[in-house]
Amino acid sequence: MRKIIIALDGYSACGKSSTAKLVASALGYTYIDTGAMYRAVTLYFYENYVELTNPKAIAEALENIEISFHFNPNTQKSDTFLNNLNVEEEIRKMYISERVSQVSAIPDVRKAMVRQQQKMGKKRGVVMDGRDIGTVVFPDAEVKVFMTAELYTRAIRRQKELIEKDEIVDLDEIIENLQTRDRIDTTRTESPLRKAEDAHFLDTTYMTIDEQVEYVLQLATTKILEV
Ligand code: DC
Repeated sequence: MRKIIIALDGYSACGKSSTAKLVASALGYTYIDTGAMYRAVTLYFYENYVELTNPKAIAEALENIEISFHFNPNTQKSDTFLNNLNVEEEIRKMYISERVSQVSAIPDVRKAMVRQQQKMGKKRGVVMDGRDIGTVVFPDAEVKVFMTAELYTRAIRRQKELIEKDEIVDLDEIIENLQTRDRIDTTRTESPLRKAEDAHFLDTTYMTIDEQVEYVLQLATTKILEV
């Protein structure tokens, strides 16, 4: 059967990764969380005191960063590894969320990540979620969906995720973080977040996760069966 690329782009915390994981599992595809890659780079820069205004230090750091994903049988989910260390828990914390948009706006960081993402999806059969998958990483993706949801709904969802990981964060702080990230992600010069012309627009504010998955699967099966 024909293998395709499914690109799910959109704002933070609007259900992209939950949808992507379930769609990938239903199709037997590989799920690639590109946000996790930018988060891992952010963690490396933070731990190694890499100055975001020093291009030489950034280039050197990027040479030393290796990101991979490995299936975790305990959680039945894929974990993010930075230089062979499992950083899945660490990269979801608030101090990383507060810094990741600045790091992912750096052109050299984007170039390195996009190259790696294109390699990961070369054989197709992947579901990738992010901000620039349908516009920059795989402009030829067979299925493109641009997801959004109302700010308050997104904040509540993010707060719930953090509580599940024992991190208690004030709703106002989450709203502020989402607003700041939206602004940086949509206004940066290098591949800003925007809907690809041929992407389907999906507002998930009043949708359940099952409905979101069903919507993407419908689009995907039509493409897979197309000759
Ligand atoms: O999806 P997320 O919230 O984990 O993403 C974290 C940040 O990474 C987000 O604020 C913007 C950036 N990002 C990006 O610039 N391009 C991508 N393809 C994915 C994420």
